[in-house]
Amino acid sequence: MENPLPIDSSILVVDDDLMSTRLLSVVLGNRGYQIDTADGGMAALERIKENPPDIILLDVVMPEMDGFETLKRIKSTTTGRDIPVIFMTALSKPADKIRGLQEGAVDYITKPINADEVIARVDTHMSLRKLQKDLEFKNKRLVVLDQEKNDFLGMVAHDLKNPLSVIQGFSAVIQESLDHGSNEVICGYLKIIERNSVRMFTLIDDLLNVNTIESGTVKITNEIVDIAAVVNEVIETNSESARSKGIVLTFEGSAGDASIVANRQAIIQVMDNLVSNALKFTPLCKKVSIRAITGANGYLKCEIEDEGPGISDDDQKKLFGKFQRLSARPTANESSTGLGLYIVKKLVEQMNGRISCTSTLGKGAKFAIEFPVAKTE
Ligand SMILES: Nc1ncnc2c1ncn2[C@@H]1O[C@H](COP(=O)(O)OP(=O)(O)OP(=O)(O)O)[C@@H](O)[C@H]1O
Ligand SMILES: [Mg+2]
Repeated sequence: MENPLPIDSSILVVDDDLMSTRLLSVVLGNRGYQIDTADGGMAALERIKENPPDIILLDVVMPEMDGFETLKRIKSTTTGRDIPVIFMTALSKPADKIRGLQEGAVDYITKPINADEVIARVDTHMSLRKLQKDLEFKNKRLVVLDQEKNDFLGMVAHDLKNPLSVIQGFSAVIQESLDHGSNEVICGYLKIIERNSVRMFTLIDDLLNVNTIESGTVKITNEIVDIAAVVNEVIETNSESARSKGIVLTFEGSAGDASIVANRQAIIQVMDNLVSNALKFTPLCKKVSIRAITGANGYLKCEIEDEGPGISDDDQKKLFGKFQRLSARPTANESSTGLGLYIVKKLVEQMNGRISCTSTLGKGAKFAIEFPVAKTE
């Protein structure tokens, strides 16, 4: 007979009769199964707890605890609940077969033991057990993938809100400027609207990418990115929020003309989250400064520093978690879901960059992101 079963399939034989235990160990051992034995119900329960087998062969007639009681106890444990049990009943007692099946056994074999019958029944149930285990494994994997997909959808939905609010804001400004604003100014606003529409389009594109949804992650590829262009774009995008709160938003950079290795769209998303946070949590008429500095370690550091309420040590530990709205609250009714920094950290890690926050409560906060400087030919 062909043996389709994995070599590591294990069987626990529970019987007080040494002869029958030996016979089964030889027959099933030769078949390639790993055999463990127990001479009674209590010993069986111990073995199952320590080392759960794939299948249990259980004798009905045993002195201290019979097979029915042992089965009941096995089924009441978390480890034993799903392990198939095959009863061993005397040919002369057909009623035991029925009762065994009623109590939850999957099958029975008759004593005296017939080697071919034992192998046929055990092989069948071992195949079923393997399929059941595969299903359980795949089910668990599906639950994880489903969660990852939900996280991903949540992240994309969240980051669609930022460009959309910029589009809304600038559309309102254009309407107000129609009477007195110059074409040049209005054209500038329209460009910002267009760029943010492109960002939303890219995000939706990612969302619709079947691979992305299936793997639960956005595949980010690094390229050479001009940091000054990115910072200027982020400043322009956030200029209206800064203006409306009377906040001065500046960019000083000794490394302003450097290029880094990162993904352009993702780094814009990261910087936009950090700058919009700085503006959101800083009171009116203060200052937010962006700085780009090349370090000796071959990394370029970009700092976003504000004059807001700062972040306590306790809050700093939670800062990059999901849905963390901490002590600082928006100062002009801006929206706050507590997801921005969670997404930022994921994106920075995917680009092989680094992010950190330093802050003393009451004295503003400083976020720093670091990326490798691109080598020039
Ligand atoms: N620059 C900052 N100064 C002070 N507190 C901050 C600063 N940035 C973030 N925080 C605190 O950390 C929390 C989490 O920030 P995060 O960007 O993840 O969420 P959010 O800005 O509240 O909402 P979202 O970004 O999802 O719109 C904020 O709610 C705020 O309490
Ligand atoms: Mg935020």
